[in-house]
Amino acid sequence: MKTTNNTVLITGGATGIGLELAKAFILQGNKVIVCGRRQEKLNAAKQTVPDLIIQQCDLSMQEQRRELYQFCIKNYPGINVLINNAGMQREIDFRKGEQHYLEGDSEVAINLEACFHLTALFTPHFMKQSEAAIINVTSGLGITPLVITPVYSATKAALHSFSISLRKQLAATPVKVFEIIPPIVGTDLDRGARDKRGQANKGIRPEQVAKESMDALAKDQWEIPIGIVKALRIGSRISPSFFLKVINKKTSDIYQ
Ligand SMILES: NC(=O)c1ccc[n+]([C@@H]2O[C@H](COP(=O)([O-])OP(=O)(O)OC[C@H]3O[C@@H](n4cnc5c(N)ncnc54)[C@H](OP(=O)(O)O)[C@@H]3O)[C@@H](O)[C@H]2O)c1
Repeated sequence: MKTTNNTVLITGGATGIGLELAKAFILQGNKVIVCGRRQEKLNAAKQTVPDLIIQQCDLSMQEQRRELYQFCIKNYPGINVLINNAGMQREIDFRKGEQHYLEGDSEVAINLEACFHLTALFTPHFMKQSEAAIINVTSGLGITPLVITPVYSATKAALHSFSISLRKQLAATPVKVFEIIPPIVGTDLDRGARDKRGQANKGIRPEQVAKESMDALAKDQWEIPIGIVKALRIGSRISPSFFLKVINKKTSDIYQ
C-alpha cells in the first residue's frame, strides 16, 4: 500500500503499539485519527504528537462505533485506512465459572466484534476511494494460545481467520487487507498481569512493531509476523505441541 497521503483511523492509538504506528504514519505524511476510552491518555498522546486527531470512543458499545464512523466520515471524508488495533487481555480460569468470565470488559466485544463492525461500517466508503486498507492487529497467541488467556487467544485466532476471508472478499476492490502479528510487546495491554505472575520476558518495544509493519505494508506483505513470530509461524506448523509447551512453560503449573 502507499504509506503516505492517507487518512488513517487507529483504534486504541493513544498508547502502546497504536501510538507508535500513529507516530510512524504521521512521520510519513499521513493524517491520523486515534480513539480510545481514556481521555487523559488521548490528551497525553496529543501532547506528544500535536498533529494527532483524538476522539474518545468506547468500542465495546455498538452505538459509539457508529458515532466514531460518523465523526470520521463527516470531518475527514478522505479517510481510507482503518487499523483495528484496540484490544485487551484477561486471564480467565473457566474452572471458576460464569461470574469470573463475566466480571471484566468483554474481549469478544473489543478485540473482535468491534473489528467486524468497524469493517462493515467503513468498507463501502473505502471502496469509493482510489486506494484503501484495513489493517488488523492480531497476535502470536492467535497461532499458539496462551492457556491462561483463553478468550484473548481465541479472539486473535478468529481475527486472523476473518482477515483471510475479508482479503478474498475485497480482492476485486481498492481495499487491501493486512494483518500485523506481534509477539510479546512491552506495553500496558494486560494492565500489570505479566508483572504479577513474574514474567521475565517483557517483550520487544512497540517502536519495533511500528517499524517492521511500515516496511512490510509498503511492500504489500499481507501477513506481517513481527520478530519471533516469524519463527513461531513456521515452527508451530511443524510441531504444534512443542510450541504450545514453550509458550505456556512458565504458567502451565496453574492447571496441574
Ligand atoms: N502487548 C503485546 O504483548 C501484544 C502482543 C500481540 C498483540 N498485541 C495487540 O496489539 C494491540 C495493541 O495493544 P498494546 O499492546 O499496544 O496495548 P495497549 O497500550 O493497552 O493498547 C490497547 C489500546 O486499546 C484501547 N482500548 C481498549 N479497550 C477499548 C475500548 N473498549 N474502546 C476503545 N479503545 C479501547 C486502549 O485504550 P483505553 O483503555 O483508553 O480505551 C489502549 O489504548 C492489541 O490488539 C493487542 O492485542 C499486543
